[in-house]
Amino acid sequence: MKKVRILGIESSCDETSVAVIERSASGKIKILSNIVKSQLSIHKNFGGVVPELAARAHSDIIDELILIALKEAKIKLKDLSAIAATSGPGLLGGLLVGVVAAKTLASVLKIPFIAINHLEGHALSVQLEKEISYPYLLLLVSGGHTEFTIINKFNSYKRIGTTIDDALGEAFDKTARLLNLGYPGGPEIEKIANSGNENKFNLPKPLIHENNCHFSFSGLKSAIAQIVAKHKINLQFKKDMAASFQKTIVDIISVKTERAITIFEKIKRKKGKVTIVVAGGVAANQYLRASLKQLEQNNNCEFFFPSMKLCTDNGAMIALAGLERYERKLFSKLSFKPRPRWPLDKKAEFMKGKRRIGI
Ligand code: KG4
Ligand code: ZN
Repeated sequence: MKKVRILGIESSCDETSVAVIERSASGKIKILSNIVKSQLSIHKNFGGVVPELAARAHSDIIDELILIALKEAKIKLKDLSAIAATSGPGLLGGLLVGVVAAKTLASVLKIPFIAINHLEGHALSVQLEKEISYPYLLLLVSGGHTEFTIINKFNSYKRIGTTIDDALGEAFDKTARLLNLGYPGGPEIEKIANSGNENKFNLPKPLIHENNCHFSFSGLKSAIAQIVAKHKINLQFKKDMAASFQKTIVDIISVKTERAITIFEKIKRKKGKVTIVVAGGVAANQYLRASLKQLEQNNNCEFFFPSMKLCTDNGAMIALAGLERYERKLFSKLSFKPRPRWPLDKKAEFMKGKRRIGI
């Protein structure tokens, strides 16, 4: 087998990232470089991502990051086999920057351009570090998505649960904003929750009693807003609320994960342990990781988490999805248009705003 090298570009939200990965003649995958430039300092004063500013910042830095990624990988442009770029879902302005850069490079170098679904990147990310056999259950928890999807094999995905309103990362970010904590809210909440009383506030657990693995988090945010309005927000209050919020979230995720395992077993009829991969920015949360690991005691399952750097948005996971597509000759046309909305499971129903859910 010839060496294959893929350049992956990620620019769907507030991180610009360029990576080079290589599949050697023996079949082993190696990350040669994975450069991530966060736009945190630009967005933090606004308490969230400002799409126009995000697009400009991606555009300002993309060329430089491509050069840095190549240099760190110790390769030249001519050594690349294909260029992959996140082409959705995400913020259109940012997607355009990455996609145009990738198409330009691919056409000049006369190599394939490969449009990647960002969620496929998250779904496969763990495979950059560990051999995982198909099928597995993906719990994707990021700033824009929260879903359970069965990864049957590469390019065959069945979503079995999703959020009907906010994504989990969004719930962390909104709660952090209510508590006047920094952005992004996830890491801030995790930090101060460590010294708070997690039983101080009794928060709602929407959809917990419904026999499916869908989520709803917007009611939780409203409940917190009401409590915040009635209290003096001092440091102890923030700690206790952060801890109570985090515990509530993890309780919900745990119950829904057990349901998802049952659904997975029913659909796949797979013998042996159910492999569960937890990916996306919120998978960086240590409390969530530890609590999910505990589920292994009473359930026939095993959890895998990508390392921190591969949980949040990065070019390496996009390059990996690109590699898998390259080897199957699943190239994209240069006329491919970025898709701000692009479900991983093409047949999945659009659930945002649904009140009655049946599975
Ligand atoms: O996957 P990601 O980097 O970007 C998207 O594709 O959305 O996820 C970003 C989200 C943000 O909402 C952020 O607050 C959350 O992941 N996050 C965390 C932690 N680190 C990042 N949430 C909880 N605990 C963390 N340690
Ligand atoms: Zn992401």
